[in-house]
Amino acid sequence: MEVEMKEISKRFGEVQALDNVSMKIGSGEIVGLVGENGAGKTTLMNILYGLYKADKGRIIVNGRETNIQSPKDAISHKIFMVHQHFKLIGNFTSLENIILGSTSGREDFKRMNLQVYRKRIEELMREHKLEIPLDEKVKNLPAGTQQRIEILKALYRMAELLILDEPTTNLTPQETDELLRSVLEMKKRGISVVLITHKIREIVETVDRVVVLRKGKLVGEVPKNEITPEKVVEMMVGRKVDLESELSNIIVPRAPGAEEAEILRIEGISTTGDEGIKLKDISLAVRRGEIFGIAGVSGNGQKELCETIMGIHRPIKGRIIYNGKDLSEADVKERIKQGFRFIPEDRMIDGSLPTMTLSENIILGFQNFEQFQRHGLLLYEKINESARKAIAEYEIRAPNVKIRVGKLSGGNIQKVVVARALLLEPGLLIAYNPTRGLDIGATEKILRQIVELRNSGVSIIMVSEDLDELMLVSDKIAVMYKGEIMGILSKESFDKSKIGLMMAGIREGGIGK
Ligand SMILES: Nc1ncnc2c1ncn2[C@@H]1O[C@H](COP(=O)(O)OP(=O)(O)O)[C@@H](O)[C@H]1O
Ligand SMILES: [Mg+2]
Repeated sequence: MEVEMKEISKRFGEVQALDNVSMKIGSGEIVGLVGENGAGKTTLMNILYGLYKADKGRIIVNGRETNIQSPKDAISHKIFMVHQHFKLIGNFTSLENIILGSTSGREDFKRMNLQVYRKRIEELMREHKLEIPLDEKVKNLPAGTQQRIEILKALYRMAELLILDEPTTNLTPQETDELLRSVLEMKKRGISVVLITHKIREIVETVDRVVVLRKGKLVGEVPKNEITPEKVVEMMVGRKVDLESELSNIIVPRAPGAEEAEILRIEGISTTGDEGIKLKDISLAVRRGEIFGIAGVSGNGQKELCETIMGIHRPIKGRIIYNGKDLSEADVKERIKQGFRFIPEDRMIDGSLPTMTLSENIILGFQNFEQFQRHGLLLYEKINESARKAIAEYEIRAPNVKIRVGKLSGGNIQKVVVARALLLEPGLLIAYNPTRGLDIGATEKILRQIVELRNSGVSIIMVSEDLDELMLVSDKIAVMYKGEIMGILSKESFDKSKIGLMMAGIREGGIGK
């Protein structure tokens, strides 16, 4: 199938999400649609899939102008999209999820002969190298498997164009390889695929062509034989960037084995699981001036571990020792006083108070510190001064310090949260996905700050779903799976495929459970 999108524009309020963008998808072609966060990639494909209506522009399918008003219309043209958040039904099996909706209704679904459908799906699984357990309930399956189910669902409905939105986000490196192999199988069978990503490196060997968006505009296209990650990143960002060499420049290497004093020690922490994933017997030690990375597919207890270390949740077992002191019974306030700092994941919920001013947000958690209050009164001059310093240092785009933080853009809110965490000399920084959703410029800045903190002797626990980023800056990496640590590696033994196996629950030298 051939699809052409012509001169598409789309505005959301103030934001021109797409400005006159055109792109073509050939029959059996794999197109990489790349751009930084917010470039308009998802919006463009949501329009093709009928989820959004373009303000302007045309869609031409197999040479004929086509009006796609809804996903139903898109599907009738054999166009399918798999979003970042899957829409499967947890209590149904894989098999049921795949055939659901392709029959005339639920009643029918109960009575029909599943064996007939099963055979067809097994055939598709073989053809496209997409293995899944057909009789398992979907809610028990990992993200990588759920994604394969979504894809099989599309193939089962004879998809001719499959759009995958940031498909590698929650996958282990091995699962990513498998996915891309399947995509190549689809191509062999004449299916067209659009791979949306902001990480060009992962798809560079798979795609036939990349289309680059920047701030809603089409920057250009690169044919297969001219694609290099450096070139594409430069087009995405609008300038040359090389995060790796920039950061390696400032990472002071350390002789293997030459270790500094232990700052934080976690001994056998377990939780009830009421807060999400149950932590099971977690032990680790973080030393002075060390970045202790935590890897894992999102949702395997990383968040619960950070929040437990911060004192937000109380473990049922285990101890937290900081600088030789047992802080197991200390509350969040006390831990902040002792030097703990937290960059939480959800900036709008945990990280900032949108209706409070930028100044108030900058000192959130430090209100009772003597720098900022006397006799119970807040010292607004000092607070505002700190906020102005933060604006300058972190290049926070804000008109003044009194603006309500909820009015700032996501990237700028993140800068406020980071500025706060680093405001008063931290002893231990817990950074939970500190660069998620940021553009390369802001990412580089934050990673640089984290590395510089490390160099100055601060201990850092950093969670990231971006394994490349984590391997770049960390001194050690622990891999989490279902609330447990599968293994801890130090820098000299970092290995992507080893870490990938642990992310899938396979311990070094054996199978975890
Ligand atoms: N439903 C929506 N309502 C308002 N703004 C939106 C909506 N969807 C996307 N946007 C905005 O449009 C721009 C492009 O977003 P998106 O297409 O999601 O980018 P990408 O997928 O490249 O990261 C962003 O500024 C985003 O905030
Ligand atoms: Mg997107």
